[in-house]
Amino acid sequence: MRIKLFLIFSTFFTVHSLDNGLLPLPPMGWMSWLSFACEINCTAYPNECINDKLYLEMIDRIANDGYLQLGYNTVNIDDCWMNKNGRDPVTNRLVADRTRFPGGIKPIVEYAHKRGVLLGIYEDVGTKTCCSYVGTRNETFDFTQIDARTFSDWKVDSLKLDGCNEPDDVPYNRSYPEYSKALARQSHKIAFACSWPAYKIGELEEKDYALIKDNCNYWRNFDDIMDSWSSVQSIIEFYRKNAPTFAKFHGPGGWFDADMIIVGNDGLSYEQSKSQMAFWCLWSVPLLMSNDLRVIKPEFKAILLNRHLIAVNQDPLGIMGHNVVLEGKKQVWVKKLSPDDASGLNSYAVLYFNDNVLGVPAIVRIHIVFPVVHYFLPPPRCHISFQS
Ligand code: GLA
Repeated sequence: MRIKLFLIFSTFFTVHSLDNGLLPLPPMGWMSWLSFACEINCTAYPNECINDKLYLEMIDRIANDGYLQLGYNTVNIDDCWMNKNGRDPVTNRLVADRTRFPGGIKPIVEYAHKRGVLLGIYEDVGTKTCCSYVGTRNETFDFTQIDARTFSDWKVDSLKLDGCNEPDDVPYNRSYPEYSKALARQSHKIAFACSWPAYKIGELEEKDYALIKDNCNYWRNFDDIMDSWSSVQSIIEFYRKNAPTFAKFHGPGGWFDADMIIVGNDGLSYEQSKSQMAFWCLWSVPLLMSNDLRVIKPEFKAILLNRHLIAVNQDPLGIMGHNVVLEGKKQVWVKKLSPDDASGLNSYAVLYFNDNVLGVPAIVRIHIVFPVVHYFLPPPRCHISFQS
């Protein structure tokens, strides 16, 4: 008798978080990119250009207008803050543009910290940033260690490390983990936001996400958000298809980033703004607003400061909600939340979404059977119901 021996090989990987103790909850704050991009003409646009005044004013708005109390605690500088001509010739350190940031970055960090606000900064892992400012490496040298030290010396609290201009010989799965280790060696703790998966859309496997989670506190993995409903819709569709996979790697210390909250700009209607906020909260992804907090209209501010939605986003379990019903343009999504009473039974947030841009109302009847004895369940804590 011949015995055939079948060996079944399978790949096992364990999902760890980056163990820097940061971001047990999804980050919340403000970021300049979508609203202010790379405007550097401060003569023509004194209130909209990338300079120290912009960030100091946003720190004030975050601290004084109720955002900080609800958790929006970080102001993030994005691209175009640097001296375009290069690093300091003696120290090789990054330097801010001297005209737009005469005192450099450190005084902005100090100003933020005095007001209880954290400060995030931007750099790129490649040879140049996406707007062609100085990158982490050139043809001959890798400045990772120097830059991590510089950001720590400035007491910056968070780093968005973009992925434009990746050199062929230093792939992301080497450069990002090296940067992560360099940050871990610094005396000041810095949350690490990676853009690595955003440049490999559709190419990454689960094992890649395990490595990303091991090295990053949060990570972008889709196209840049634009100031339009169609852009938000494309992100919703991306998460509808992928949330069950992403959820395995999403949680305290390591978060998928669906990109900035654009509520308060011109691109979304009031109802569409509620939809964006609801989805980002249901997914427990970062709430990083990019808008002009100095002139935001009260009804949009109210969406951003909705305590119930923020509680869903900041639920300690950090579970990414997923789609359970898709009927034409009607969708229902569910997110499991921590128990909100002594029963020990979980609550659920349920999101009803009518994606019909014709404006036709939708009636949705659903019967959700949760994976526990359902008649003991408390009613869902949060119903988010609206029409587009
Ligand atoms: C990329 C990022 C954006 C922004 C710009 C800056 O496109 O995805 O979020 O940081 O670079 O150049």
